[in-house]
Amino acid sequence: MKNIKTIVLSNQEISPGYFRMKILSPGYCESAQPGQFVMFRVQRSLPPLLRRPFGIFRAGFLPADCDDMPAKEFIEIIYKVVGSGTEIMEGLHHGDPVELLGPLGEGFDLGAPEEEKILVGGGIGLVPLYMLAEKMVENSKVRLLMGGRTRDDIITVTEFERLGVETYVSTEDGSLGEEGLVTRVLERKLDKYPNAAVFACGPMPMIEAVQKICDSRGTSLQVSLEALMACGVGACLGCVVKGEGHSDAEPRYLCTCTSGPVFRAEELNWEKEAANNSECGGCK
Ligand SMILES: Cc1cc2nc3c(=O)[nH]c(=O)nc-3n(C[C@H](O)[C@H](O)[C@H](O)COP(=O)(O)OP(=O)(O)OC[C@H]3O[C@@H](n4cnc5c(N)ncnc54)[C@H](O)[C@@H]3O)c2cc1C
Ligand code: FES
Repeated sequence: MKNIKTIVLSNQEISPGYFRMKILSPGYCESAQPGQFVMFRVQRSLPPLLRRPFGIFRAGFLPADCDDMPAKEFIEIIYKVVGSGTEIMEGLHHGDPVELLGPLGEGFDLGAPEEEKILVGGGIGLVPLYMLAEKMVENSKVRLLMGGRTRDDIITVTEFERLGVETYVSTEDGSLGEEGLVTRVLERKLDKYPNAAVFACGPMPMIEAVQKICDSRGTSLQVSLEALMACGVGACLGCVVKGEGHSDAEPRYLCTCTSGPVFRAEELNWEKEAANNSECGGCK
């Protein structure tokens, strides 16, 4: 993990409210693992004071400028504009200076190659699943179930298809793919492929529903959580979630930024709120 001062290579709107940003990122191709994230900061403006966490969508090499020059590394993040930080990001262009701290956190365990894999992405939760799919397709059959409220939330699905991933889309309003919740599609797929392992990222209600389905069937599940994060390195304790075995008498908290963001379902306490997002809100 290191902090680098670098530049934006491109920043394009790919669906209403969703942007894809390519950032020059020396050292990331070798070190970034599927499910890891970066803490992102705009260099030129003071606000927002805190860095913002974003999953790494993809890491790669730019074509070399000439034969004897090493190829330059980049990462891509995909973000939804939701508040002050992402509103500033939306206005960034090629060459704008930014700061990246990362790669951070514990990513996904790829599981056994012979196991079939079902990835479940809700909206922007699709982001950390791409690098995961890239690695998994080398050895395993991979299916992606992608859910959103409307067609605008369904992003980059064709890129998963190009990897050889079988994709299924559902939207709550029926504007693209099957009408309804992605969890309904998951139940059907698990009826058909009962031994598949599931990997999920998305809003907490979706994650909780996926956990219930997998728990009732004894299905292996890894989840990537989105807690509110101030530091990203285990220092502020703003991102803690309740771990398995947690009780008032014997509290057991896990930092989402260092023990996660990816957890095996059995590591977490699912009783009420797995993601106990606490936020002071005063120093954003
Ligand atoms: C490990 C991790 C990976 C993430 N990856 C992505 C990603 O790939 N793409 C992406 O668009 N977003 C991702 N997020 C969420 C992203 O960090 C927030 O959307 C961003 O920080 C919002 O910043 P802002 O200043 O625009 O909004 P703020 O002004 O800080 O907040 C605006 C609204 O968004 C809510 N919000 C802020 N942060 C989060 C969060 N972490 N989870 C849920 N709600 C939040 C706030 O409660 C508020 O209602 C990730 C979060 C984590 C923890
Ligand atoms: S974000 Fe500070 S401890 Fe996790």
